[in-house]
Amino acid sequence: MTDRSRPIHPDVEKVLIDPAALQKRVRELGAEISRDYAGRRPTLLGILKGSVVFLGDLLRSITLDCSVDFLSVSSYSGRGSTGEVRMLLDLRESAAGKDLVIVEDIMDSGLTLHYLLDSLKNRGPRSLEVCTLLDKPDCRKVAVTAKYVGFRIADEFVIGYGLDYNEKYRNLPYVGVLKSGK
Ligand code: IMP
Ligand code: MG
Repeated sequence: MTDRSRPIHPDVEKVLIDPAALQKRVRELGAEISRDYAGRRPTLLGILKGSVVFLGDLLRSITLDCSVDFLSVSSYSGRGSTGEVRMLLDLRESAAGKDLVIVEDIMDSGLTLHYLLDSLKNRGPRSLEVCTLLDKPDCRKVAVTAKYVGFRIADEFVIGYGLDYNEKYRNLPYVGVLKSGK
């Protein structure tokens, strides 16, 4: 259900996933991670900035002790991938021996995750998995898979719940399709 007191943003073509559906699915992912990592202390690696809203909700639905760290990479400007991934901010803590769970907003071409998985694998973590809120499987340019996927969606540019278009719309409480020409 969308909040009736808050009108849909005029740049949104349609709401794809409403706040209630997001909350429900994120709680399920949190429960799954809590079960899978029982007895361990996973480190959630939020990929800035798109994952912060998702990470905030996911974190609160995990019932284990866990840690959080952040990474920032850049591969996008506007709607298209530049195809080049750069590390803008690296982890504060060492990854060695840790149970790492990369928390991503969306998997599109897969280039960002492919790069991150490669980089993190080489640092000797005990385990390394991916949790993505959204997956656009039809857009993949390199083969990567996530163990935890919130929603599989079609090839449309989406915004809200952390996802942006040129740094706008991250604060929308739903995932929506951006109107063309915006
Ligand atoms: P990939 O490297 O092509 O898989 O792209 C991953 C990154 O691109 C995500 O972390 C997002 O920041 C951005 N991205 C991909 N698709 C979308 C979208 O539909 N809306 C907003 N950002 C997107
Ligand atoms: Mg982005």
